[in-house]
Amino acid sequence: NYYAILMAGGVGSRFWPVSTEAFPKQFHDMLGTGDTLIQKTFQRLSRLIPKENIFILTNERYNDLVLEQLPEVTQRQVVLEPVMRNTAPCILYASLKIQKENPDAVMIVAPSDHWIEDETTFSKNVQQAFDFCSENNALMTLGIQPTFPNTGYGYIEFNKASAEAIKSVNQFREKPDYETAKQFIAQGNFLWNAGIFMWSVKTVIETFKTNQPTLYSLFENGISTYNTDAESDFIKENYPKAENISVDYAIMEKSSNVYVIAAEFDWNDLGTWGSLYDKLDKDASGNAVVHARTLAEDASGNMIRTKKDKIVVVDGLQDYIIVDKEEVLLIYPKAKEQDIKKVLQKVKDNF
Ligand code: GDD
Ligand code: MG
Repeated sequence: NYYAILMAGGVGSRFWPVSTEAFPKQFHDMLGTGDTLIQKTFQRLSRLIPKENIFILTNERYNDLVLEQLPEVTQRQVVLEPVMRNTAPCILYASLKIQKENPDAVMIVAPSDHWIEDETTFSKNVQQAFDFCSENNALMTLGIQPTFPNTGYGYIEFNKASAEAIKSVNQFREKPDYETAKQFIAQGNFLWNAGIFMWSVKTVIETFKTNQPTLYSLFENGISTYNTDAESDFIKENYPKAENISVDYAIMEKSSNVYVIAAEFDWNDLGTWGSLYDKLDKDASGNAVVHARTLAEDASGNMIRTKKDKIVVVDGLQDYIIVDKEEVLLIYPKAKEQDIKKVLQKVKDNF
């Protein structure tokens, strides 16, 4: 009865110039391991979930990329969105499809771009969550011990009194402002939301029905024409009408049956070049290098990526991102990595 929804619709613009709209980060070998991020995620999930029960949610323009990179996946498993509407609409759409196949399904929703090395512990924590969701009407998340007041994450306040591994959640707060995030961390009973959710298909659909009635009624009837041309016509016409809202705001913040397991594995949402730098092995001078061959002197803290085996010589440069990709060469301070999104816009406007 285990199912998975793998979200692969994002663009990853802070990983420009490697990640582009035509070829986003989840389809790249960001870690230099030989596998793309979506391949790594698929392998991680298939330890627990039958391969044919893993659904990939993505924009229709990435359909071919998905089928090419995941040869085990058939078209039935690729759920296509005509336009981006954030995670709530695509999760509801895919859940309704899964419910048609198996009303008793217990599922995990996972992003396709996370770094998780310890797959055994990941599987253990997800299995604990699956066992709990099979018995309880629960929306479950994996919680990460926060290290600084990151305003880009969801925060989970868990019930301090509980000694259980699975804790009930007092509140779920998506992307608080800096001051609030600081308070949360000082309080000690807050975890970051890893963005990985587990629940029964029955529970999540009931939750959408209660908390997002407009969205629910938009999709409710169209999906009853399961996997037919009528369904894809319905989606083409109606999906664009869905509100652009993430699952965190749409249901997690609004529900009282949220539970959290503190993740026992190391986690990183690979969002920026700096987060990738942190997770990669470093050379003797402290540079993270993907695909390049480097000679580094008085150069450390740099994130270097080129095409395979390109020779890069650096001297006197600290904490820079150096990325060489066909017609683009980016040399940019790591400290300003969040601005790469804006840089990309400027490049589009100018060239
Ligand atoms: N299929 C599809 N369609 N996928 C999407 C869409 C969409 O329209 N929009 C986003 N995604 C995918 C992204 O590619 C990513 O893998 C995942 O859904 C989460 O979206 P993000 O845009 O990266 O969310 P976030 O980082 O702002 O916040 C979420 O993740 C944090 C942890 O990384 C939230 O769940 C936070 O609470 C959480 O802390
Ligand atoms: Mg993210």
